[in-house]
Amino acid sequence: CAPSLPARPVGTPQKRHLAARGHAAQRAPVVVLGGGAAGMMAAMTAGRRGRPVTLLEKNSELGKKIRISGGGRCNFTNISEKLDRAYHSSPVIDEDFAQSDGSFFQKAFRRYPPEKFIALVESHGIKYHEKKLGQLFCNKSARQIVDMLQQECLAASVELCTEAECLTVAAVDGPRAARYRIEYLKDDKKKEIYAEAVLVASGGLSYARSCGATDLAHRIADSFNLKVTGVRPGLVPLLLPSDAWTRSLTGVSLEVAACMGSTVFVERILFTHKGISGPAVLQASSYWEHHADAHKPLVLDVLPYLKEEEVLEWLQRRAESCRKRQSRRPMPASEELARKLPRRFADGFWKNEASKHLGVRPRSGLEDLESSALQRLASLLKRWEVKVIGTEGYPKAEVTCGGVSTEELSDETMECKRQPGLFFIGEAVDVTGWLGGYNFQWAWASGFAAGAVC
Ligand code: FDA
Repeated sequence: CAPSLPARPVGTPQKRHLAARGHAAQRAPVVVLGGGAAGMMAAMTAGRRGRPVTLLEKNSELGKKIRISGGGRCNFTNISEKLDRAYHSSPVIDEDFAQSDGSFFQKAFRRYPPEKFIALVESHGIKYHEKKLGQLFCNKSARQIVDMLQQECLAASVELCTEAECLTVAAVDGPRAARYRIEYLKDDKKKEIYAEAVLVASGGLSYARSCGATDLAHRIADSFNLKVTGVRPGLVPLLLPSDAWTRSLTGVSLEVAACMGSTVFVERILFTHKGISGPAVLQASSYWEHHADAHKPLVLDVLPYLKEEEVLEWLQRRAESCRKRQSRRPMPASEELARKLPRRFADGFWKNEASKHLGVRPRSGLEDLESSALQRLASLLKRWEVKVIGTEGYPKAEVTCGGVSTEELSDETMECKRQPGLFFIGEAVDVTGWLGGYNFQWAWASGFAAGAVC
């Protein structure tokens, strides 16, 4: 398969062509289920190899999730050092990709690194920029990425069949060319198509209402007795107890180090009327686990650029200075904390957390604290445990963590080890990336891996 593409001008998608081709084929060597990021990449890759491909997509248009991604600009990949190291078998991969055995995706990334997708984007004249932390976004619109993939599919003679909802996939006895029967719904009628290879690219459960997600991948896996692991919402806002004092902080944002277990993210958080969100929390949420009797707490370091000793020294200095001018105007300690933290946060934190953990009155000043209490305050600011009671769930989750177990799949091809001809790619697989273009990069790389061999 030749991944390099000739330069082609970007034009409007050939929608009429798509609609006209929305008919039921009876047989296709390759059938791709789902016309999102992974499905389109796989289809165009297989099509370029000369494989006749039919892609079934439930929605009336392709790539709905891509269109709304990255705030409408699609953060289509990530070129940070961390991802580079991921291609080179670094253990850092473990930190970048949750719920994975740490090596599963390496081969796919080596074969299809961000540079390849960037080259494709450039060959279509799509302008992009790096926002932060290696995150690449379109300058203009996410729609350009969908148009590009759609054009590539059409150029590779992929049959794009929209408004076609796949219902079931079954293995059938017969010639290799027709070893799977796919049943789908089109124009309110049940139809069938036979295929030699089926690529399941139907994504996860997130954003079902606006993007049409279904549990198809999990159902297909179940029907073939394939393991599906750790399915839960990821990159999702967290819920705090209804009586949490932080509910009064709606709209307050600050930079923290958010720790979930041993995983730490230094970015902003945002208090919401239900709990807590912002990039640091979304990242940490993918690592949040809850069991009937134990919820993992979120631990926040609200002064992430200072070591605990430095926080203590600062508190001691401020306490000393307060003592000196005590006779003039006593100040609650929250006034001092507000020198480094947003005022509303400092007020609430002092009134609720400090009084609970240090046993001081809300109006107390720093000068009222003994040195052991100052030490405890420093620790509290560096390790504030926030009780999480849940997540906002799939409707607000940017991804679905978990999926078809990586143990079931070949890391070279994404084909099921126990079910030749059946492939799972993209979010349907138990590989979850960080916020910042990592999830699309996984969709491109896994789609390419399957499309190159199916
Ligand atoms: P995807 O969900 O894209 O596609 C699956 C397709 O299958 C859909 O088109 C669906 O309609 C179709 N389908 C489902 N069931 C079907 C059935 N029964 N029959 C036929 N078709 C069916 N990531 C990133 O890297 N950068 C970003 O900027 C963002 N931004 C972002 C914003 C928002 C709001 C969300 C919800 C998500 C993101 N993501 C992201 C995550 C990213 O969108 C996601 O990881 C990829 O789209 C996954 O690609 P897939 O192709 O696997 O699934």
